[in-house]
Amino acid sequence: MAGGTPLAGSGGGSGMATQGGSGGSSGAPVAGTGGEGGRAGAGAGGGMGGLGGMSGSAGANSAGAASGASGTSGASGTAGAGGLVYSGPGCSVPVRENDEPMLLSQTGCVDPTDPTKPADTLVPYDVNSPLWSDGAAKERYLSLPTGAKIQVKDCSAEPDTCKSVDDGGTAEDEGHWDLPVGTTLVKVFLLGGARIETRLLMHVSDTQWRGYSYEWNEAGTDATLLPDQKDKVIGAQTWHYPSRSQCLACHTEGAGRSLGPTTAQMNRDYAYAGGAMNQLDKFEALGAFDHVPPRIAPYPSPSGDGELDARARSYLHANCAICHRPGATVSDMDLRFETPFAGMALCNQVITANEDDLTLPRLRLVPGDPTNSSLSYRMHASTGQRMPKLGSNVVDADGTALIDQWITSITSCP
Ligand code: HEC
Ligand code: HEC
Repeated sequence: MAGGTPLAGSGGGSGMATQGGSGGSSGAPVAGTGGEGGRAGAGAGGGMGGLGGMSGSAGANSAGAASGASGTSGASGTAGAGGLVYSGPGCSVPVRENDEPMLLSQTGCVDPTDPTKPADTLVPYDVNSPLWSDGAAKERYLSLPTGAKIQVKDCSAEPDTCKSVDDGGTAEDEGHWDLPVGTTLVKVFLLGGARIETRLLMHVSDTQWRGYSYEWNEAGTDATLLPDQKDKVIGAQTWHYPSRSQCLACHTEGAGRSLGPTTAQMNRDYAYAGGAMNQLDKFEALGAFDHVPPRIAPYPSPSGDGELDARARSYLHANCAICHRPGATVSDMDLRFETPFAGMALCNQVITANEDDLTLPRLRLVPGDPTNSSLSYRMHASTGQRMPKLGSNVVDADGTALIDQWITSITSCP
């Protein structure tokens, strides 16, 4: 970082403008502030997210940064608060609890004059296997601090990180994108085309992540920070805005806190304003990686036309393995995609939770028999025993059908 190396441009032609981008959008994004890179107190103005979004040149980008930063007056000047915690300019929620901006338009994550548009430093992306979110459509964005790099967990280059956690390895999977302190991830939820919630997930220190939820107003012009969880009836459903601790109950340490950005999830095309491009190629062209990560085959889309087994495993990985994996909430059941079926502790395994509830099927998975499989029962439940444990009230008709089809197709335990 010493040289403040600007992120390499993508060679032009495919700008980072988001869908419906805000104009002036092609060209190679260049951050080039020469600054230290957005640590707390790194100074205003120059320290915007390093992936310089839609601007055509470094100069234009700093203009964009300045205008973005103007919406974040509350966001700077918190360096004194311990020093460790990121609260620099750019896209972030200041971490002093009493100084959080109430409005999304004040975070620097959106265009302050039109909060429905992302700030132009944000990079949009999509994942191969999404979390079911009660039928909501989602937009996702990543904001990196200037000059900081993404380190992708790579077992061949750094075998030590892939040892077991007890032996000094890290918990997250191979291909997980370890995002630097100062990164903010943004997810926008839309129901019936209207924005209802925006979530910000911030990497605030070496050991800490924080999640925040903003509720959009009826007019769809801005969103307000929620102090706690909230349920709201929207149309025929009850939408759940998670609390800050609920964010981290799904964004588990065992899964690496940030969940979507992994090579297998990100290995897909995205329709950038300048044209479609593979997301790994895009981040590589932006100079966002500390070293170019090896390719990993994409997870199949659960709703695609791939092989049944792989689609079902992909669904369980994205929706359930965040908690059901070694090092997370219920760690004796491992629903990750890469885990061989025999290692999942599913097939004819007796349940370990709520055994006193006699409505629950006794076994986690019975080959050929979804009705007597707790795995399926829990996904069909609308209250009480419902899985996923948090954040969803509406049964995923396609997801449950897929898992039931999968269980039906299994003929025996390994
Ligand atoms: C039910 C579990 C669950 C809860 C609760 C939850 N998330 Fe997530 N979140 C996920 C999963 C799984 C993904 C990745 C898949 C996707 O993006 O569809 C994700 C993705 C995200 C992303 C995109 C970056 C990433 O890590 O993939 C953001 C931002 C985010 N969540 C923020 C939040 C915030 C903030 C809260 C709390 C207000 C929250 N989430 C609560 C499960 C959850
Ligand atoms: C936010 C974390 C979280 C997520 C996400 C989650 N679960 Fe769970 N799950 C739990 C917890 C905690 C328990 C144990 C307590 C209970 O039974 O409610 C559990 C228990 C279970 C059990 C019973 C296991 C036993 O031995 O009794 C099954 C089956 C299950 N989950 C399936 C799923 C499926 C399928 C998904 C995805 C659709 C999922 N879970 C997503 C947290 C989670």
